[in-house]
Amino acid sequence: MDISVASAGESLPGGSPNHDRLQELKAFDESKAGVKGLLDAGITKVPQIFLRPPEEVAADEPISGEMTPTQFRIPVIDLRDVAGDRSSVVAGVRQAAEAVGFFQVVNHGVPEKVLEDMVAVARGFHELALELKVEYYSRDITKKVKYRSNFDLYESKYCNWRDTLKCVMAPQPLDPQELPPICRDVIPEFSKQVETLGSLLFELLSEAIGLKPYHLKDLDCAKGHLLLCNYYPSCPEPQLTLGTTKHSDPDFLTILLQDHIGGLQILYQNQWLDVPPIPGALVVNIRDVLQLISNDKFKSVEHRVLANHKGPRVSVACFFTLDHFPSTRTYGPIKELLSEDNPPLYREILLQDFNAYYNNKGLDGNSALDHFKL
Ligand code: OGA
Ligand code: NI
Repeated sequence: MDISVASAGESLPGGSPNHDRLQELKAFDESKAGVKGLLDAGITKVPQIFLRPPEEVAADEPISGEMTPTQFRIPVIDLRDVAGDRSSVVAGVRQAAEAVGFFQVVNHGVPEKVLEDMVAVARGFHELALELKVEYYSRDITKKVKYRSNFDLYESKYCNWRDTLKCVMAPQPLDPQELPPICRDVIPEFSKQVETLGSLLFELLSEAIGLKPYHLKDLDCAKGHLLLCNYYPSCPEPQLTLGTTKHSDPDFLTILLQDHIGGLQILYQNQWLDVPPIPGALVVNIRDVLQLISNDKFKSVEHRVLANHKGPRVSVACFFTLDHFPSTRTYGPIKELLSEDNPPLYREILLQDFNAYYNNKGLDGNSALDHFKL
């Protein structure tokens, strides 16, 4: 937005009329200290750039999740059964991917120690002295390892109460020396483990939709992944902002490790439903392009993270994505799934077009999928 227009009296998202938003965003960005830095500086109020517009808050009551349907729980799928009764696991995955878009997995094969270490080093990185973190602070889209607060800082209506370390792990192997020393051993191990789990999940999802086990992998869905180490500091006025604005994720699949704090919610039948932390479990969700190629059979569901007095909260998201690796492969509704009764709902896309559209839009509460509908 043009600041001269804004300072002429137009109300800005979340702020009062004459509040120089761009200036404040720049100062925040240039501090390179993230939201963590604000807390370290002793703030007791949420700064203006983080305020949700009052009309958004009003449209959103109650925020606490206490109105969520009591009987409904995000499905939990026990992957130990894969070796035995695979068809019942596939049925569970189908039901969850079609109806909810989110599920948790237990007995998934990633050792508990790896999960614990991963949460510890993600937290450890964000809690390093600022002088040890600043060298990683960047908004350069070509960088494979970078730390920053709010990827969409200058695009979004209001900032989120969250800092992130991003590491692009595959298909091009990342030289561990590029990682901050504190996570140099743990991140490659976690990455390897979630890659193996992702591979299994794509097989199960392929079978769940009635295709050969390798179908989604043959479409390169498991080929690339990145890790986001999210740090949600405690918030003095959590009702005024969000940890992560409502969004769905852009391309194939997310596997999320969350600590014990909670705050992740999904929008299910118009109600915000908590994704409760389960020790040792991983959260899985369908992403937009997987919904697109499934021709809406699988659902990419909107979710958000509440800000919280309690904190910090740490989460590590593994995104199966080819965001950093342009390709000429096009993605559209899978031909084998289409029929007269099930005509294609989307046009063929290039992943980089989808991701560019998503990233330029920022988290604005709207789905990027609509833009690619036929
Ligand atoms: C994301 C996301 C949820 C969380 O990174 O896309 O939705 O719990 N994260 O951090
Ligand atoms: Ni997400």
